[in-house]
Order: sequence, then structure tokens, then C-alpha cells
Amino acid sequence: MYRISDELAAKGIKRIEGFPVDGFVRGQGPMNPALMLVGEAPGENEVETGIPFTGRAGKELMASLAGIGLSREDVYITSAVRSRPYKWGQKKERNGEVVKRKYNRAPTKKEIIAHAPILDAEIHDIRPPIIVTLGNIGLQRLVGPQAKVTQLHGVLMETPILIWNEETQTFEASEDSYHIFPTFHPASVFYNPPVRTLKDDDWRKLGELLKPKK
Ligand code: URA
Repeated sequence: MYRISDELAAKGIKRIEGFPVDGFVRGQGPMNPALMLVGEAPGENEVETGIPFTGRAGKELMASLAGIGLSREDVYITSAVRSRPYKWGQKKERNGEVVKRKYNRAPTKKEIIAHAPILDAEIHDIRPPIIVTLGNIGLQRLVGPQAKVTQLHGVLMETPILIWNEETQTFEASEDSYHIFPTFHPASVFYNPPVRTLKDDDWRKLGELLKPKK
């Protein structure tokens, strides 16, 4: 198992202090994973369990992995942000009572910067053979804001990735190139069902890429 250092985790918690986020969920997986999966940020369920992708999106993701013969233990799972970004909203209870509750939201650029040293360290230490980005947040964190999952999904790219430079306060391109395979976030099929066919096709292609060459 690979685990970021307690020191780096403490730094991540400190750097995100003051932002509307809950908890801190470490990435999880072996030192030599078949793939690294980069999502967006944990949700309520993950903060509760302390394990990435354990909610509804996680179930969807595990089915995709199983389809190519992999399980959670074979891959390293992380995301751009390691705390749950939330916003307050209102929910009407069955008895008509209106209660305040937290809803998930996408992480902001500042929150992504706060946790950039964590993802940078994970990629540096693990050197995954393929990084699968799940959705636009993970893709843009590594490839830049111009990258769009709708245009790039399902095709393996070889490209430098963005690394946070604390001195210049900018993301800079890495010297080394990495293999990135962009696909949709597993939760996207819940609010956009037609995406399912595209996503499933992507995973089939990924499975082909992982097959040993004869
Ligand atoms: N979405 C993510 O990006 N990560 C999780 O752990 C759960 C949902």
C-alpha cells in the first residue's frame, strides 16, 4: 500500500483551512497499481468511511473496473481535492419541514491549488503506467483548463502534466511525459444517462490497452 506521509496530509489539511470543505480522505491503493484514477473530490459518504469512491459513484466505478478484470485493490484511487467541498442548501422533508443541509459542489481553483502538492507527490512517488482522469476536474488539473473530457475521452494521450510551483504560484508543465486516459466521471451517468454508452466504450478501450500484447 502507498500512503502519503502524515506530514503531507497535515500540510493539506492546513492549506485548505477556511474553505467550505469537510474532512480529509487519503488516496488509496498499492505502490505498483495497474492504473491511477484521478477524480474530483470526496463526497459525504467518503468523508464518513475515509475511503475514496464508496458512495453511489463508487459503485458505478467498481463496475467499470470489474468489466476490465480489475478491482479496487489493483488501482490507486485519488482526486484533485481530498476534502469534501460543500454548499448549504434547503431540503423539504416528507413532513413538509424545510431543513438546511450540505450539498456537494465542484472544488474551486483555490481548493485545487491547496491540495495540488498531494496529487503531485502521489504521481511522483507512484509513477503510474496510466493515469485515468474521471471528469473535467481531474483532467484539467493535470492537462490544463483548455482540456475537455467530451473532446478527449477514450483516447490515450502522452503528455507532460501540470505540477504546482509554490514559489511562482503557478502550475508548470512537468519535464517527463505521462500516459493519460481521460474518461467521464462515474457520477455523470446519473444526471446525463446518454453518457453511459460513451463511458462504457471508453472502459472497453482501456481494457484493450491493458491487455498484454501478443
Ligand atoms: N467523486 C470523486 O471524485 N471522488 C470520490 O471519492 C467520490 C466521488
